Amino acid sequence: MYALSPAPADPILGLNDAFNADDRSDKINLGVGVYKDEQGRTPIMAAVKTAEELLLANETSKSYLGIAGHASLPKLAQALLLGSDHALIGDARVKTAQAPGGTGALRVAADFIAKSNPNATVWISNPTWANHKAIFEAAGLTTQVYRYYDATTKGMDQTGLFDDLSQVKETDVVVLHGCCHNPSGVDPDLGIWKQIAASAKSQGWLPLVDFAYQGFGHGLAEDRQGLLALVAEELPLLVAASFSKNFGLYNERIGALTLIDTDGDAADAAFSHVKVSIRSNYSNPPSHGGSIVATILESDELTAQWEHELTAMRSRIADMRTGLTEGLTSRGVAQDFSFISQQNGMFSFAGISPEQVDRLKDEFGVYAVRSGRINVAAITPTNLNPLCDAIAAVI
Ligand code: LMR
Repeated sequence: MYALSPAPADPILGLNDAFNADDRSDKINLGVGVYKDEQGRTPIMAAVKTAEELLLANETSKSYLGIAGHASLPKLAQALLLGSDHALIGDARVKTAQAPGGTGALRVAADFIAKSNPNATVWISNPTWANHKAIFEAAGLTTQVYRYYDATTKGMDQTGLFDDLSQVKETDVVVLHGCCHNPSGVDPDLGIWKQIAASAKSQGWLPLVDFAYQGFGHGLAEDRQGLLALVAEELPLLVAASFSKNFGLYNERIGALTLIDTDGDAADAAFSHVKVSIRSNYSNPPSHGGSIVATILESDELTAQWEHELTAMRSRIADMRTGLTEGLTSRGVAQDFSFISQQNGMFSFAGISPEQVDRLKDEFGVYAVRSGRINVAAITPTNLNPLCDAIAAVI
């Protein structure tokens, strides 16, 4: 059709293909951000199974949803984002559209920004999720990076962050990771969040919060503190939430785009354009994932069960962080790996170079993103020791 050379493999999802093609039985996949249990399976949560049974028994139609998805989802998603007693839930200034995954929510946001404010520069952290740049540029927007992570201290580059934020124009957008920064696992503390919020307020730029891991850091409530600091400044903002990880609904593609505007009329107008973006992308969202999330969040019993399961996932990841730190230390690795236990969420930026990542794959069948990001949520009691041996051998 066209004289094209092949596109490069996706730096994250492309690893799955390479992993699946590897015939070593002891291979370990620490690439894509998917939770694994102790047996190395990605389970369906029990609360999700129950919700699906209810849906199977009670669903009466497969007719189209509205452009913005299930009518019950906005308030439920807002309560999850902001806390169930927040004054903004259901307020005219807040609008939510169901989206096919966090990625879908980001792309709708990107198209909305590109149409409404085509000259905006979208600022993304250095480093950031490998897909951010591609999503915003696919919508025709220009991206620029702001400093965020300090490879020397394995912490935040606060000076760099605020120097770069001071350059952001009023018409620009800054993408912030709501919690569990991907790939570094390094999050701002509440004091830094308040400074970021003050910068947005005084300079007038638009925060776009990518909130893909709520509940994977310190808890549903703790993980929303950054978002609440932004909301407290009463600025317009966008939130792209994903329910892939915290409900384990990866392949149902379910997320939500929420906008908060200065008043109800402005929110109505902005949301009408969000709906135009949705209609010209995929018309209206698929139903099943949204039905599951709504069924769980509408039921106190299922919500309690879901939160219990989410807590267990979070604590298993924390155990694996400790196990990895201890395993490397006990193998006499000279580098200090204690930072792994301080990082949040699924990922660790393990301080491994691209060449070392290649050796892990070639010599030990351990797959990680070439940036040195490893998915701690895929470490299990069974693969922990061989993994520590492999990392100790390459560094
Ligand atoms: C990841 O970063 O591994 C996940 O968000 C999955 C993806 O789509 O890249």
